[in-house]
Amino acid sequence: MKRTSYRCQECGYLSPQWMGRCPNCGRWDSFEKSTAQEDHLGVRVKPLPLAEVELEKGGRFKTGIEEFDRILGGRVIPGSLILIGGEPGVGKSTLMLQVADKLSQLEEPIIYVSGEESPGQIKLRANRLNLEAPDKLLVLSEQHLSLIQREVREANAAAMVVDSIQAVFPSGEEAPVHLHKEPGGTRQVGAATFELSHLAREQKIPIFLIGHITKSGDFAGPKAIEHMVDVVLYLEGGSTSSGRDSDIRLLRAVKNRYGSIDEVGVFQMKEDGLEEVVNPSKFFTGRSSVPKPGSVIVPSLEGTRPILVEIQALVSSSRYSGGFPQRRSTGLDYNRVALLLAVIEKRLGLHIGGEDVYLNVAGGLSIRETAADLGVVGAVVSSFKDRPINHDTVMVGEVSLSGEVRRVKRVRERLAEAEKLGYKRAIVPWDEQVNRGVSHSIINKHEVLRPQAESLEVIPVRDIEEAMECLL
Ligand code: TYD
Ligand code: MG
Repeated sequence: MKRTSYRCQECGYLSPQWMGRCPNCGRWDSFEKSTAQEDHLGVRVKPLPLAEVELEKGGRFKTGIEEFDRILGGRVIPGSLILIGGEPGVGKSTLMLQVADKLSQLEEPIIYVSGEESPGQIKLRANRLNLEAPDKLLVLSEQHLSLIQREVREANAAAMVVDSIQAVFPSGEEAPVHLHKEPGGTRQVGAATFELSHLAREQKIPIFLIGHITKSGDFAGPKAIEHMVDVVLYLEGGSTSSGRDSDIRLLRAVKNRYGSIDEVGVFQMKEDGLEEVVNPSKFFTGRSSVPKPGSVIVPSLEGTRPILVEIQALVSSSRYSGGFPQRRSTGLDYNRVALLLAVIEKRLGLHIGGEDVYLNVAGGLSIRETAADLGVVGAVVSSFKDRPINHDTVMVGEVSLSGEVRRVKRVRERLAEAEKLGYKRAIVPWDEQVNRGVSHSIINKHEVLRPQAESLEVIPVRDIEEAMECLL
C-alpha cells in the first residue's frame, strides 16, 4: 500500500499528514507533499527485539593521523556523517585532503568532491602536501548532488569528502551562477545534508562534510545541520584575540555519537600541511635550562585534556610609553587580566599601577579558564620583582577578588600531566587536600601532600600571599 507523505522543506522532517508547524524545527507552513520514492511510508518494517539486532559490520578505519583518530573516538564509522566546520582559511581543505590521502591507503577509492575548486587547484594543494597515494584518491569538481551520488555509486567509493556542504546543491536544484555571492542558505544546506545522509547509509561509507563558518560567528550553514550528522568537529586557529596569527590549530569534537566530546587535537600548520603535535605540553612549554623572571607553567585544560602552557609576563616602567601605563595580553582574556592586576596591587601591596604590563601565552594558544589566574599572578609578580620562579614548578587555581585561591576542576589530571613531564612541585588551591583525602605532613607552615605518585610535591595555598611566599 502506498501512502502520501509530507516533508518539511526546512529540516527534512517527514510526516504522514500535512502539518501547519514542523514539530522538529518549529517552522510554520513548511510542509510539502513529498515526491521522493523512499519517503512513501509503504514499506513495512517490523520492530525487532533489541537482543536480535545485529551490530553494523564493516571495516572501521583509522586514518593513522593520531590526533584526528582520537577526536573521532579512535575510528571512522561506515555510514556516518562527519561535519568539519571552521572559518575560511583555517585549514579545513588541507586537513581533509590529508585525511583522504591516509584513508585511500587503507581502502579505495576515496572521492574528494570539491564544489569550490577545480581539480587543478586541488592538485596544487596535493603537491604541496606530498601526498602518498594520489592514484587512489579521486577528485571530482562538481556541485550537483545527483551527479555526485552517481559517481559515488559507480566508483563504489569507500569514503567521500564534500568540500563544502555550502557548495553542493540538492537533486533537482540549480546551482547559483555566482557561487561566492550566494553561499548556501539554511534550507539548501539542510536538504543537501539530508541527501548525503541517505547516501552514507545506503553505501555504508563515511562521508565528511566541510562547512564554512563566517567571521561574524554566524553558524547559519553548519550549525543548522549539527542535529543531522553523527559527529561535529570544529577546526580553530590558535589565537582568538588577534585573529589567526598563530600556526597552531585545534580540532575539537562538539558532538560525537560514537565517542566522547570535549576532546581536542592539536596541529601545527606548516609549509607542507598540518602536522600533529603529539606532545602538546612539551610543545607549549619548551623548558629553558635557566629559569627566567616572568615565566610560569600552568597545567590548563583544553576540553578534558590537560595541556601545560607557559604564561609570560613583562612588567616594566612606563617611562618609555609616555607615562601612560600600557596593558596588553595575548591569549588571555583582557578583562580578567585587568582584574587580577588590581587584586595584586591591593592584596600584595605591589605598586604596578604605573607600570607597563604585557602578558602572553607562549606558542599561540588561548586560555579561557580562570584556573590560569594563579599563573598570571605568579608571572606578573615574578617579573615585577625580577625574580625567577623555579622552573620545576607548576601552579593552578582561580583567584577571587579578595585574593583567595579557589578550587578548579580536574586537578588530579592536571597534576598527572605535570608529573609526566618531570615537574617537581605544584601549587594548588587549599581545598584540594580535602578532596584528595591523602595524609599530609607539615613542613614549615605549609602543609604538603604527597599524592600516590612520589615525585610531585603538592603545596596547597589559601591565598595569593601564601602562594608568592612559597614561590619567590
Ligand atoms: P585551506 O585548507 O585552504 O583552508 P580552508 O579550506 O579552511 O579555507 O588552507 C588555507 C591556508 O593554509 C592558506 O592560507 C595557506 C595555508 N597552508 C599552509 O600554510 N600550508 C599548507 O601546506 C597548505 C596546503 C596551506
Ligand atoms: Mg577550503
